[in-house]
Amino acid sequence: MIERWLRADLRDLLTYSMSVSPEDLAAAYGVAPDRLIRLHANENVYGPSPRVYAALARGAWHQYPDPQGRALRRALAEYTGLSPEWIALGNGADDVIDLLARLLVGPGRTALIVEPTFEMYALSVRWHGGKVLTLHRDEAFRISLAELLEAVRRHRPAAVFLASPNNPDGALLPDEILDALLAEDVMVIVDEAYFEFSGHTFAGRLPQHPNLVIVRTFSKWAGLAALRLGYALMHPELVRAYDEVRPPFHVNLAAQQAALASLEDRAYLLANVARLVAERERLYQALQAFPFLRPFPSRTNFILCRVIGRDAHRLWEELLRRGILIRRYTSPELRDYLRISVGRPEHTEALLRALTEIVEEIPHGHA
Ligand SMILES: Cc1ncc(COP(=O)(O)O)c(C=O)c1O
Repeated sequence: MIERWLRADLRDLLTYSMSVSPEDLAAAYGVAPDRLIRLHANENVYGPSPRVYAALARGAWHQYPDPQGRALRRALAEYTGLSPEWIALGNGADDVIDLLARLLVGPGRTALIVEPTFEMYALSVRWHGGKVLTLHRDEAFRISLAELLEAVRRHRPAAVFLASPNNPDGALLPDEILDALLAEDVMVIVDEAYFEFSGHTFAGRLPQHPNLVIVRTFSKWAGLAALRLGYALMHPELVRAYDEVRPPFHVNLAAQQAALASLEDRAYLLANVARLVAERERLYQALQAFPFLRPFPSRTNFILCRVIGRDAHRLWEELLRRGILIRRYTSPELRDYLRISVGRPEHTEALLRALTEIVEEIPHGHA
């Protein structure tokens, strides 16, 4: 009834895939929602700094927040080693990506994306009426530099979206790929959502390269996924343009205060990051012991596994039946892959127990 009112170019994007919640999934598999082990969304199982709760207990909630988020941008300047004019805020990295697509891509323009990667780049570009030009990584998730340069020179995209480390495989973007792209006349957006886990950044290239944008988030390292706070590091002229195309009271004060409290308590949060990195290495070793799993080395808080000789979706279901939700994929490219977020040691134990049980119960089956 309503469809004829909707933008025709958006129709094939209306998949309603977000309507299935983890709680619904748990219920469908007979798992009590509060017993579900959530290893599907790369959340930080250690949660926020205790100082966040204190910061949220007070606030001038009746006043509009500072539209420029000055206090947080000053703190981020100190954290990143850049000055506040180089920093733009958003409601999570998703929103920063969306505003960058609004600003840089849009109707009649193209963005270049190398799949498989984080799905929001292509979605945002399409939401804004832009075209997506897609290249593909090889079996080891490597990007071909020659192909990338050829596509940039031939199609002259307005922007290239890349993640470092990449989601879903967890590997860093090689220096030579970024350096070659930055030498071209194209805007390069590098998503460093997992920077604190990888310990690697390209931010040092910003002063020399006005065509570089770095996107970060507080969702992963600082455990603030629910509060939505992301930011971009980019040339001050680009920050000013970005600020012109967003609603004035954009990032809510609670998120700003929580991010500030997180930066003040970074030693606590980075200790949790270190625990997750250690747990990731333990999980990686343990997953290698299962002959039907080929885990990929990761610089993030998740591990991608290729599933060999078993049906990845059946395996996903069998884990869910046992109360563990991980990430599966429907695209043909990733049909045989599962992604597991790193949790607490007891989550690793529960996962390994469930996998062992599955092997014993369905030794040659299609799980
Ligand atoms: C590569 C990448 N970028 C961005 C995000 C989204 O971050 P945020 O929660 O800040 O929107 C994610 C979340 O999974 C991600 O994997």
